[in-house]
Amino acid sequence: MGINFSEVNFSYQKPKRRRAVVQTLHGINLRIDDKGEFIAIVGHTGSGKSTLVQMMNALLLPLSGRLEIFGTEIKKKTVLKPIRKRVGLVFQFPEYQIFEETVLKDIAFGPKNFGLPDPEGRAREVAEIMGITDLLERSPFTLSGGQLRKVAICGILASNPEILILDEPTVGLDPFTKSELLELLKKLNREYEKSIIIITHDMDVVSEYAQRVIVLKEGGIVYDGDKKTLFKKEHLLEEYDLDYPETMRILKALKERFQADIDINQHSIEATYQEILKAFGEEDEH
Ligand SMILES: Nc1ncnc2c1ncn2[C@@H]1O[C@H](COP(=O)(O)OP(=O)(O)OP(=O)(O)O)[C@@H](O)[C@H]1O
Ligand SMILES: [Mg+2]
Repeated sequence: MGINFSEVNFSYQKPKRRRAVVQTLHGINLRIDDKGEFIAIVGHTGSGKSTLVQMMNALLLPLSGRLEIFGTEIKKKTVLKPIRKRVGLVFQFPEYQIFEETVLKDIAFGPKNFGLPDPEGRAREVAEIMGITDLLERSPFTLSGGQLRKVAICGILASNPEILILDEPTVGLDPFTKSELLELLKKLNREYEKSIIIITHDMDVVSEYAQRVIVLKEGGIVYDGDKKTLFKKEHLLEEYDLDYPETMRILKALKERFQADIDINQHSIEATYQEILKAFGEEDEH
């Protein structure tokens, strides 16, 4: 089931009769499984990433084409609540998503709204996972950007969606919290088989965590496939406005500088380290 786009177009402008509109997204064909995907959506600023994910939980409707979410075709009158329970979206700017008096009430809002049992219990549980139990009685409006982001993520997690979409989730987080969050997403993906979709400009995050990468350019999908094949391409910047991850840049520099036999397509610090050891040998221990 999951999410299915077929020849979907979208425009923020209302089409006036016979007048062509500027399409923000065009010709989108996409299938997203409801189990076990870990997708990164990347692309230049303004390429349509946030717009695309807002369609995935039916916040924005297609101008034309067919969009199906969990087997339901999305139209003007489609009942959206059950869909929103199954596809959770954390916005790029979390402050838009937060409006209750306390953090606890805010996190509990989703599960309460969906009629799930014990919303506050669920809220406390996810707050524990995200390490923000000390914030539960605070007003969301007194929090820092990073804290707000965590609250927004908890608010979505509390409803236990099958597909979890996060729009630039690591922006504004300190390095420790950033890797904690990414590890949590990895755990949700691996152990609970949830499909995770993140938008990010951070190619190191793509390299280390994603399996599948979708590249948007000027409102169209220009690449959809596994990350290794993407990073094997020679001209990422020219073709897709993308950079290579740090690990690959280091390996590439070493390969060129020392004419070493190195496979630059490594996707974690550990794998990069092992590749360097392999190429240059281990130093003798004294
Ligand atoms: N509410 C809106 N009304 C009109 N145009 C919009 C609106 N939101 C976005 N756009 C336009 O649609 C295009 C795609 O925007 P979108 O926010 O999806 O890009 P993005 O890839 O998420 O960019 P970024 O990396 O900067 O977040 C841009 O040209 C943007 O100016
Ligand atoms: Mg965006």
